[in-house]
Formats: sequence, structure tokens, C-alpha cells
Amino acid sequence: MQDTWETLLCECSRCHECALGQTRRNVVFGTGSPTAEIMLVGEGPGANEDQQGVPFVGRAGQLLDDMLSIIGLDRTKVYITNIVKCRPPENRDPLNVEQDMCIGYLRRQIGLLRPKILVSLGRIAAMRLIDGDFRITRDHGKWYDVDGMRMMAVYHPSALLRDPSRRPETFDDLKSLQREIRRICSRTELHCPWRAAPADK
Ligand code: URA
Repeated sequence: MQDTWETLLCECSRCHECALGQTRRNVVFGTGSPTAEIMLVGEGPGANEDQQGVPFVGRAGQLLDDMLSIIGLDRTKVYITNIVKCRPPENRDPLNVEQDMCIGYLRRQIGLLRPKILVSLGRIAAMRLIDGDFRITRDHGKWYDVDGMRMMAVYHPSALLRDPSRRPETFDDLKSLQREIRRICSRTELHCPWRAAPADK
């Protein structure tokens, strides 16, 4: 049977395949446009996300919104989700076994969205989606061709909150992302007001 967003959401919302299903308040499935050409993938929900059922709504989410706006994007033009859909307790990294149980939902989301560009937010997503040996300090901002998508990773917004010295590199990565969007995402309009109108003569 053909997969749909509705059946996938329904299955995922009822999931108890791993122990995270016992401690979560809400499954955090994903948010954004189901026709987006760009997908962003974090590692897993934190406390705020667990409470609201929406990815990236805490401080890291605010920074992610700022990162998107730097390149003329907002949440309505992308699709945002995580490797695991339920909150790991104490904000620890999701265990491999939890990722293994959950990754099928992400694969199906990718199958439905068929994004042209997939951006991993941080190391955990990059190791799972791009390369098991991915090192975020070494490999952020590099482009990879994986399963017909252009993929890159940037520092996780939480890492940028902890270590603001990474922000200039991230700005460069975002500009590279912007160039790639302009090159291959014909349906994605970037809204950059500061360079829209030439001054009146
Ligand atoms: N960090 C993540 O990786 N995902 C979220 O949804 C929130 C914080």
C-alpha cells in the first residue's frame, strides 16, 4: 500500500518500539511544508519539544529560526524533524538502539518529501545520515551526494549556544546552503529584504 503522511503520523504517534515511548509526553513527528525541497534533521526532542510536540521550539529552536532567516528561509519553506521522535531523558544523546528503532520513520518521511537538500543539524544526524565516521568539526559545510539528495551538516544550534565561537564558520556554511538552494531548488523562494530593492535615484 502507498505510504501517506497521515498513515505515517498515525503509526508514529502510537509507537512504543523503544523505551523512550514510556517516558515521552508527546511524539515529535515533524513540522513544516510537506512539499518542501529542503529538510532539516536534528537529533531528538528536548523538554520543550516533548511538552509541545513540535521540533526546535526552545532556545535552540529560536537560534535555528535566526539561522534560517539569515538566508531568507523560514519554517514554512522547509521541513524539520529529528532522528528520534521521542525525548531521550535528561537530554542525553539518543542511543544507537533507539535510533535504529526510529530511523524507519525518518526514512519514510524522506520518501514522502523527496527533498533535494537535506541538512543535518549536528553530529548525531550527520553520523546517521551521511557517514558513520562524520566529524562535525572537520566535515561541517561539506557537500555529499547521498541517495539522490545533496546533504551537508552544520553545527547543532545547541552547540552554537554553548560555543558562540563556531558562529562565523556556521555563517559560511549557511551561505553555501543558500547558494545550493538557488542552484537546485526551483520552487523555494528566498526572502532577503535587505537586498530586494535598489535605492531610488
Ligand atoms: N534539539 C534537537 O536535536 N531537536 C529538537 O527538536 C530540539 C532540540
